[in-house]
Amino acid sequence: MKKVLTIGVFDLLHMGHVELFRKAKALGDYLIVAVQNSEMVEKYKPGAHLVCSTEERCYMVGAIRWVDEVVTYNSSDEIVGLLDFDILAKGPDQNNEAFQRALKIAEERGIEVVTLPRTEGISSTDLKSRVAK
Ligand code: CTP
Repeated sequence: MKKVLTIGVFDLLHMGHVELFRKAKALGDYLIVAVQNSEMVEKYKPGAHLVCSTEERCYMVGAIRWVDEVVTYNSSDEIVGLLDFDILAKGPDQNNEAFQRALKIAEERGIEVVTLPRTEGISSTDLKSRVAK
């Protein structure tokens, strides 16, 4: 059984996130989604202004039909080193320092890395500004 991992914040779950899960699941048989803990998002991305708590974000992600398991994480390098999986499905925007370290760990562990394209025209930030208008 091929296990796929994808990771992220997933605040205000939207079509771009669901499309990511659909494409990631198609790469294997079992999809694990790691949701970043709010304290860490606020620490490393102070402009993020999270609307949903860690628990709310996990609940929504877990309700999507392509998601088999939801876990939480603090840093991408930590979770990529910890879990048992075969393929890391990442977004093209996932390239900060911790993610660079995560990619190195994936390489060392023989994990295949697949970069999936983003869905154009939608993001959590965009949804927040739509609501604000
Ligand atoms: N993603 C995607 N298509 C979008 C938005 C996000 O495929 N339109 C993917 C990202 O590439 C990443 C994952 O979803 O792999 C989690 O991204 P996240 O940062 O939580 O979502 P965004 O909507 O980009 O959030 P923000 O606007 O706060 O950056």
